[in-house]
Amino acid sequence: MSASNTFSKAELVTAISVSFGAAAVGVLIYKTFCNKDKCVKPKVNLDLQKDNPKVVHAFDIEDLGDKAVYCRCWRSKKFPYCDGAHAKHNQETGDNVGPLIIKRKEA
Ligand code: FES
Repeated sequence: MSASNTFSKAELVTAISVSFGAAAVGVLIYKTFCNKDKCVKPKVNLDLQKDNPKVVHAFDIEDLGDKAVYCRCWRSKKFPYCDGAHAKHNQETGDNVGPLIIKRKEA
């Protein structure tokens, strides 16, 4: 082993100290800015009706026709109806969401 590939004891102690110091600063920053109330949590609804406190859709069962396909991924441009955007979302994220399909029973 050549001398250029070895660390002196002082260099090793310094490297370990700097690593632990950086880790401690990281933990402090995390605890300061990411506690229960402050930390940004992931959202399901990225951009639909963000001015409403709650997005709700209601339909009369008589008006559904023979089949209704509703979005559950919140990525459809025709929300609350599914437009197939879940396929791209699933491909990009590894998720497995799909629509809610309501069909009238065949007589
Ligand atoms: Fe959202 Fe199909 S587009 S479930």
